[in-house]
Amino acid sequence: KGESGGSELDLLKRQVTALGTQLKALQSASAKQRKASLLQNARSVGEKLFVTNNLEMNYEVARVACVKAGGLLASPRNAAENAAIQEIVTMTGKIAYLGINDMQTEGTFKYPNGDKLSYTNWSPKEPNNDKGVEDCVEIFSNGKWNDKSCGEKRLVICEF
Ligand code: IPD
Ligand code: CA
Repeated sequence: KGESGGSELDLLKRQVTALGTQLKALQSASAKQRKASLLQNARSVGEKLFVTNNLEMNYEVARVACVKAGGLLASPRNAAENAAIQEIVTMTGKIAYLGINDMQTEGTFKYPNGDKLSYTNWSPKEPNNDKGVEDCVEIFSNGKWNDKSCGEKRLVICEF
């Protein structure tokens, strides 16, 4: 029993060592992917990763593109996240959609999950629901927000 116990322990030790080696390889592969994406189509803030497909789509098509990819349309919850999204807008030269919208209740903007906003960065005099048709939100290269018709085509940025 002592011997088989010892060899079981040795086996476990070898397995732990192998897992450690595999973990290091995974970490290095993932760090490499992250660096490559940060070069041209992504920015990270804390645990959040913002990624663009570099395409301009209307809000619903953009929303579905993000959900199909396993994410959500970018929805900044603080100034650092907003700055990361702003960098992608600057980098691509394309005005982007945020996930934030007031489709459910006019004048009450919410995140895609239904939470009320914890942070805003509206342009002066916005949101103004111009012509009564502006339920979506675009973000300019200065990082400021404007409510806009959901039918406009804007850059898709998803968060993961
Ligand atoms: C509008 C203006 C307005 C803003 C609207 C835009 P347009 O653009 O910039 O300030 O609140 O969301 O649609 O119609 O004058 O080109
Ligand atoms: Ca507006």
